[in-house]
Amino acid sequence: MTSLTDLTARLCRVSRAHFIDPFSRLRWPDSLERAQWFMTPELISLHGTGHYDALGERQRQQLSFFELVNFFSINIHGERMLIEGLAKRLYRKHTEIVSPYLHHFLDEENKHMFYFGRFCNQYAGKVYAEKRFAVNREYAAGEEEFLFFARIMLFEELVDIYNRRMAKDQRLVPLAREINWLHHFEEARHLAFGRRIVEELFETHAHAWHEQVRQRIADELLHYFDATWKDLFNPDAYRDAGLSDVHALRRELLSDDAVIAKCTEYRERCARTLYKIGLLDREKMQ
Ligand SMILES: [Fe+2]
Ligand SMILES: [Fe+2]
Repeated sequence: MTSLTDLTARLCRVSRAHFIDPFSRLRWPDSLERAQWFMTPELISLHGTGHYDALGERQRQQLSFFELVNFFSINIHGERMLIEGLAKRLYRKHTEIVSPYLHHFLDEENKHMFYFGRFCNQYAGKVYAEKRFAVNREYAAGEEEFLFFARIMLFEELVDIYNRRMAKDQRLVPLAREINWLHHFEEARHLAFGRRIVEELFETHAHAWHEQVRQRIADELLHYFDATWKDLFNPDAYRDAGLSDVHALRRELLSDDAVIAKCTEYRERCARTLYKIGLLDREKMQ
């Protein structure tokens, strides 16, 4: 396995070689006609349910616009949490090996927030509010550090499923496709780093964690994934798209078998590093 030091050096080289300036790269039309696809139809939160089947093409496209604004808003809030946490970790004693890469990570996330934020504000006049708050509690040694990087990894794995799919969807408005491509391109490095540091932190600390501590970490990460998934079902976006009974709609969607199956499939994919290190166990989760 590549050492964290070698991986950090390689990722720094690639970040420098593939430096992208999104300010000059993206073309921003003054306005965007809503009767177009903004989010891949199969990724729309209603897709696969009777609620989606009941909509006409224009309504689906209108919804695809607000779903993309919601998806970009979720990215902004996740990246704010990430930047705050990464900045705190710069030049701490135990992070000196990775600090050179944390600078690239921070720089890239800042640019991501710029294009996500501009899209939301320019075309929808808003960024949807964050609905989650952190709870302070006591941690075992290394637990908070592990949770921070594991949450980032789960978040970036989930977002990347969407980015990858939309980056090559020719039905989408070019700007929407291009933003997804740009994000996926840089996130590939963040994910390589994220998976490796999660493994490293687990190796360093897990042997000293009591079974109860391991269990609460596993539970917290699964809860975090599910909460992020549920953020994709935003009543405010449904209301803006002209749908009615938006809170009942959200409840019905989240208990729909097709939606639950998709959530389970994505959770498995996003948590594969957590299975690999042995924090999660497929047998126990059946
Ligand atoms: Fe990002
Ligand atoms: Fe990232």
